[in-house]
Amino acid sequence: MISFSDTTVLLLGAGGREHALARALALSPRLKNLYSLPGSDAISDWAQSLPGNPASPEQVVAAAKDRHASLVVIGPEAPLAAGVADALRAAGLLVFGPNKDGARLESSKIFAKEFMARHGIPAARSQAFEAAAAAKAALKDWPETVVVKADGLAGGKGVFVCPSRAEAARAVDFLMEQEGAGQAGKKILLEEALSGPEISALAVCDGKNFRLLPFARDHKRLQDGDAGPNTGGMGAFAPVPVSEEARAAIENIFARTLGGLRAEGIDYRGVLYAGLMMTARGPKVLEFNCRFGDPEVQAVLPLLKSDFLELALACAKGELGRIRVEVALGACVCVVLASRGYPQNPAPAGKIAGLEAARDSGVLIFHSSTAVSDRAWSGGAGRVIGVSALGKDLSEARRRAYAAADKIQFAGKVLRRDVAAGMPAGAEA
Ligand code: AMP
Ligand code: GLY
Repeated sequence: MISFSDTTVLLLGAGGREHALARALALSPRLKNLYSLPGSDAISDWAQSLPGNPASPEQVVAAAKDRHASLVVIGPEAPLAAGVADALRAAGLLVFGPNKDGARLESSKIFAKEFMARHGIPAARSQAFEAAAAAKAALKDWPETVVVKADGLAGGKGVFVCPSRAEAARAVDFLMEQEGAGQAGKKILLEEALSGPEISALAVCDGKNFRLLPFARDHKRLQDGDAGPNTGGMGAFAPVPVSEEARAAIENIFARTLGGLRAEGIDYRGVLYAGLMMTARGPKVLEFNCRFGDPEVQAVLPLLKSDFLELALACAKGELGRIRVEVALGACVCVVLASRGYPQNPAPAGKIAGLEAARDSGVLIFHSSTAVSDRAWSGGAGRVIGVSALGKDLSEARRRAYAAADKIQFAGKVLRRDVAAGMPAGAEA
């Protein structure tokens, strides 16, 4: 097939996920122009930044029309929940990202639970509450260990795995009485605590068809050995080896989910991300997200041999049926560098040294929160940089990622040392 550089893309977002997406889009021979809104200094290596609020339907539609975008790729969840995809589609534009109705799978955990129950999708048992007193009174009917979850978008701060009823009651109060996660915690779920290894399963969808991307594992806790608080993710690797049986069960979860969405009149085009726990009784869905996971995306996209722009365009047009996803052999490991105090109280990272030396070692560097001035990079507060390395297997990718991560220096740098550790070849979830 002859490819033409005929596609102008507008990419929404500004973080590490969007940096990885910008790179993947820029690799496509189909790409004519790439714009990012709002973008970042790092993303502007690949894209021209446009000012604006990515969660404002009016601003995004105006920018997309002004720049003659033939495709809009939506990175984060907030624009999806705000109906940006709906407004773009109503204006006749092609979009990679679901409408607000589909995005409810992420923006309301109660909706997601009810949806899963309607469509026979395996998940933890749960109960929804709109008042703290009722939730606390119900705790006596639940096992000692229980999970308390905010219904709405809480940026990773709305889930508490509680080892005792007393702690669960405190989590209920934090969410519902103290509004610790804002509006997101007005309603909550009590949920059965499951155990097993976790997998981030991501698929691209065109409303009817889906294609699974390599399975990834996120490292959500701050410290080695899964100690410390939950974070947005301190590292990720792909692929996670799984048995044929587990793969078939995961395929089945996606088939049911996409089938269920269609049956409910929801035309879901974009990424569907299932956070799965591989329990002794098979995979169960912990949560759905409607966008790429970050840092998972930083380990998954570098493994794609297929043209990501072609994939996104096929999803947006409803033409994924004719497309195969090709994946490279080998593995990718992403190590996240965060700033001191992350996640509770992050301080700005300040001056960053060693970026060039790290890049020269042949890894990919994705910026979550940085800015450049006079060619000197400085880091913001929170997750700062992701270092992704490819290798013939996980242990080689891991070695290369850490060698490069060690070359990058800033005051108070925080990282985990055990990303993708203990994954011998052939180990299966
Ligand atoms: P979520 O945002 O729902 O994926 O939850 C964040 C993290 O909390 C997950 O990655 C799990 O480690 C943990 N978690 C969520 N739900 C459960 C559950 N039902 N049982 C045990 N752990 C859970
Ligand atoms: N890394 C988890 C997420 O993006 O939700």
